[in-house]
Amino acid sequence: MCGIVSYIGPKDPVPILLKGLRRLEYRGYDSAGIALINKNNLQCLKKAGKVSFLESVIDDSAINGFCGIAHTRWATHGEPSDINAHPHLDLKKKIALVHNGIIENYGAVKEVLKKRGISFTSATDSEVLVQLISELYYNSKEKLSFEDAIRAALQEVVGAYGIVVICEDEPGKIIAARMGSPLVLGVGEGEFLIASDASPIVEHTRNVIYLDDNELVSIKDEKFSISKIDSKMIVNKTLTKIDLTIEEIEKGEFPHFMLKEIHDQRHSISDTMRGRFNLDDGTTQLGGIADYFANILSASRIYITACGTSWHAGLIGKHLIEEYSRVPVHVEYASEFRYRNAIIDNNTIIIAISQSGETADTLAAIRKAKELGALTLGVCNVVGSTIARETDAGIFTHTGPEIGVASTKAFTAQLTILIMLALKLGRKKGVSRQKGKKLIRALRHIDQDVSSILNISKKIKKVAESTWKANNFLYLGRGVNFPVALEGALKLKEISYIHAEGYPAAEMKHGPIALIDENMPVVFIAPQDESFPKILANIEEVKARKGIIITITDKINNSLKLLSDHTLVIPKTHKHVFPITCSVVLQMLAYELAVCRDCEIDQPRNLAKSVTVE
Ligand code: AGP
Ligand code: GLU
Repeated sequence: MCGIVSYIGPKDPVPILLKGLRRLEYRGYDSAGIALINKNNLQCLKKAGKVSFLESVIDDSAINGFCGIAHTRWATHGEPSDINAHPHLDLKKKIALVHNGIIENYGAVKEVLKKRGISFTSATDSEVLVQLISELYYNSKEKLSFEDAIRAALQEVVGAYGIVVICEDEPGKIIAARMGSPLVLGVGEGEFLIASDASPIVEHTRNVIYLDDNELVSIKDEKFSISKIDSKMIVNKTLTKIDLTIEEIEKGEFPHFMLKEIHDQRHSISDTMRGRFNLDDGTTQLGGIADYFANILSASRIYITACGTSWHAGLIGKHLIEEYSRVPVHVEYASEFRYRNAIIDNNTIIIAISQSGETADTLAAIRKAKELGALTLGVCNVVGSTIARETDAGIFTHTGPEIGVASTKAFTAQLTILIMLALKLGRKKGVSRQKGKKLIRALRHIDQDVSSILNISKKIKKVAESTWKANNFLYLGRGVNFPVALEGALKLKEISYIHAEGYPAAEMKHGPIALIDENMPVVFIAPQDESFPKILANIEEVKARKGIIITITDKINNSLKLLSDHTLVIPKTHKHVFPITCSVVLQMLAYELAVCRDCEIDQPRNLAKSVTVE
């Protein structure tokens, strides 16, 4: 987690760093801090809470310099507080460091340093690293250079890091290194930025280099060099052009990024599909994995691995891929998959789904699968992300940057890719062209469908206004809509702090039904498909126990009207496209409930957008 941004160049770093921190705040917002070198003097300011708190202190204190580092934190070790905020300084207050990740052996290193008389001010793992660098730089017999002291310190630590370090005795130099946590170098005209992602860089330069693990970049005198941390071997890397626009990373007239991103779905699903259809042949083309189609079709099994919302997309993907292609698919939480003895060989395909492409557990899962000989494919949103680069091939979701912590448009983009993949495989396995065309036509109608759903947002708001005081919600769906229920419940939990559970509708009677009373809203996902009579029976069961029934359907009938307290009717579509359109309603419902409860929608407590720690 956490966001890092640093700048070296002719401009005043303070506004650049603060703006960069605001752009990165979605990655963590427990505290924010900045350190600058001014002539030969290191200054540091840090504050618990959001970037705006830091800004208010900076206004009063006229901090300045010509190069600087900044950090917005998602705490792993030590509570969110001023003291635990980054940057961390060494005892001499000459070296400042920002860190993203976890130093796993920090306890042992700390003990050694304490024995050498070094005292610590914070409870973080990160402070250990800056103190160790300082100890090696100032006190080792070999008289190490600053850069070599950093290399030596990094040899001593175990864990994950993306760090940027500056030193008062080496003004005009910035050093960054990466092992496990993302860092991007922006290469401008006589200026450089290093950040956790490209969003703070885009308005200064479009030329970037993505650092890989075990790489260190050193910048001085308008030049940079990248080398291996351990061997010092110089690495020649090519510049990549980022195609992010400023509008994509600002929320415009919307009060929240989440609402903007829900609305983006009027076009973002089409963006995901652009150029990927072949209507005449009733199929899709997915260039990124074209070379591996034969392997997928002949695979003994596919594992889909992911976390959170992306895992929910995987569950829907399983349903679709198995239905269309008959290739067996297993869906696993990456955090479990990486540690268990799964059956993986060179006839196994791993599909990692990740919006950020940086989720530590998902990354570890593909690394393990690769070692065991599997072919790894990525479904990622962020181009240049680690998972996108480390998988053998992949399909980008191309939905644009997603900044709201609760995933919305990235989820529907993932579903879109998985439908297109299922269809492509299915067409090779005997699914008829007609069937393919029908699905494609429904997908091509999705912009209008999403717009119609957003047109009923007043109705959704009314549902929220009458249920926001509930402490619990149940979400029920069947078949391909069961994971949609799980995702609806997750959205609600994340942003409104209402406890919510998703269940297969028929499972309710095996336990959760005990929870139902007149205070329990139950959201039924009830399209008029072959399972409709069954779900109607489940609605009756809840009605009999006085639950508050909220039904989402694509066709209203009398029984539904009589049974439901609220009905939300959305356009009829293909049954395999319904999970996408229905998810938009559930996102809006969660959003409106969170508004009623006056919650911090884009930055829910305890969460961060990208979980780059285990
Ligand atoms: C989504 O609303 C969540 N914030 C979270 O579950 C997220 O989907 C998960 O952390 C996985 O992230 P990724 O897709 O970037 O790998
Ligand atoms: N482990 C560090 C801390 O708790 C950094 C966490 C992060 O990556 O935000 O401060």
